[in-house]
Amino acid sequence: MALSLKNSPLLLFLLLLSAAAGIGRAARLNQWESAIRMPTDEDEELGTRWAVLVAGSSGYGNYRHQADVCHAYQLLRKGGLREENIVVFMYDDIANNELNPRSGVIINHPQGDDVYAGVPKDYTGKHVTAANLYAVLLGNKSALTGGSGKVVNSKPNDRIFLYYSDHGGPGVLGMPNLPFLYAMDFIEVLKKKHASGGYKEMVIYVEACESGSIFEGIMPKDLNIYVTTASNAQESSWGTYCPGMEPTPPPEFITCLGDLYSIAWMEDSETHNLKKETVKQQYEAVKDRTSNFNTFIIGSHVMEYGTTNIKAEKLYLYQGFDPASVNFPSNYLHTGTMEAVNQRDADLLFLWHMYKNLEDGSEKKVETMKQISETVKHRIHLDSSIDLIGKLLFGPTKGSATLNSIRAPGLPLVDDWECLKSKVRLFETYCGSLTQYGMKHMRAFANICNSGVSRASVEEACMAACIDHAPRQWHPLNQGYSA
Ligand SMILES: *[C@@H]1O[C@H](CO)[C@@H](O)[C@H](O)[C@H]1NC(C)=O
Repeated sequence: MALSLKNSPLLLFLLLLSAAAGIGRAARLNQWESAIRMPTDEDEELGTRWAVLVAGSSGYGNYRHQADVCHAYQLLRKGGLREENIVVFMYDDIANNELNPRSGVIINHPQGDDVYAGVPKDYTGKHVTAANLYAVLLGNKSALTGGSGKVVNSKPNDRIFLYYSDHGGPGVLGMPNLPFLYAMDFIEVLKKKHASGGYKEMVIYVEACESGSIFEGIMPKDLNIYVTTASNAQESSWGTYCPGMEPTPPPEFITCLGDLYSIAWMEDSETHNLKKETVKQQYEAVKDRTSNFNTFIIGSHVMEYGTTNIKAEKLYLYQGFDPASVNFPSNYLHTGTMEAVNQRDADLLFLWHMYKNLEDGSEKKVETMKQISETVKHRIHLDSSIDLIGKLLFGPTKGSATLNSIRAPGLPLVDDWECLKSKVRLFETYCGSLTQYGMKHMRAFANICNSGVSRASVEEACMAACIDHAPRQWHPLNQGYSA
């Protein structure tokens, strides 16, 4: 009030009068509301904000993916999203893992607080599956297997935020339980959700190797869904806050605490006013940071797909608004270059740090070395058998180039996604599981499909290459080729 009359009885009287009028107005509104609910700020602009958070891996060496997802949960809760509207998928084997130096606690930043406490265990362990993710997104309870039963029961005016962090490969995202999530299945689920009128708009953030390939050439622009991915269709994404790197985790950690793109968006959200920052501004900031400020010494190309006019919207519509973020301590945000390790080397790096930390001559140390060499052997088996299959199918000079060829931007990885699935199954029948590491070879199977070779030929080549599920020493078909 601009009135300068101090202690004036007239002012006091006016104040009392206006307060009484206010009460009267409120009473009338309540009456009115009992008949027709007045639209509140939330109803008008927002509907309900929903979120689905997915950590697609398991194992302490993959600490960072579940740390990312727990962190995202805390961020959204601080932003005002309700627990009942956030569905969490995580294997949940990190906080109480015997290797965790801080029992019951997960951190996602070297100086970060616990992000684990309070995270709902909606889908954990064997229930973290692609099928359950689809059922949750579609709000189809009868398609669920296990879990809390929480689904995205969204209405036409609601917004959905989906965030995924894990390993991936061309055309696939990992899940701690097989099968992988296949890009085309996921896009079909999004189309179905759109057709059912189940949301107003959706924003999807995906961190994984080759995550661009999940959307490249197949993500429609008219679903009211805006997507960004950590990497383009043919490059790795990166783990960060790793032992021996800068910024470094506390010394007792032998595993990476986060992933480069993931911590980039979350730390950006935590230090900005999300009622003012747009989706586009976050995309630009995350793109800068994930590429290590366009140096790409370490880092990847953040990509965008789908309905781009969503970019003009403010982030709070998806992530909520935490007033504390406006005054966040600035030293929390690391502004320099981030050291990082590509997702696939992170597994070996973890085993190596575990090995180095163990007591010399201990049984566990010997065991860990064995595990490292088994892992390396398995990788060589996968790499060499796929290379050989290429040579058998396309000839020794063209084999590798055909398997590794990259299609022009805008083209999908593969034309026939069912063919891709069936070729992977065929390979696994003869050569063993493709595993987390083997996802990197999905492009080879895609190119086999794109080349149109017959199923029988592929089967023969798999049989020849993997006759005993192990790296071959010698095989008649292998003569003259280096295996
Ligand atoms: C829900 O899932 C069940 C089981 O998979 C399926 O039979 C049903 O058609 C689905 N309902 C809808 C509405 O998609």
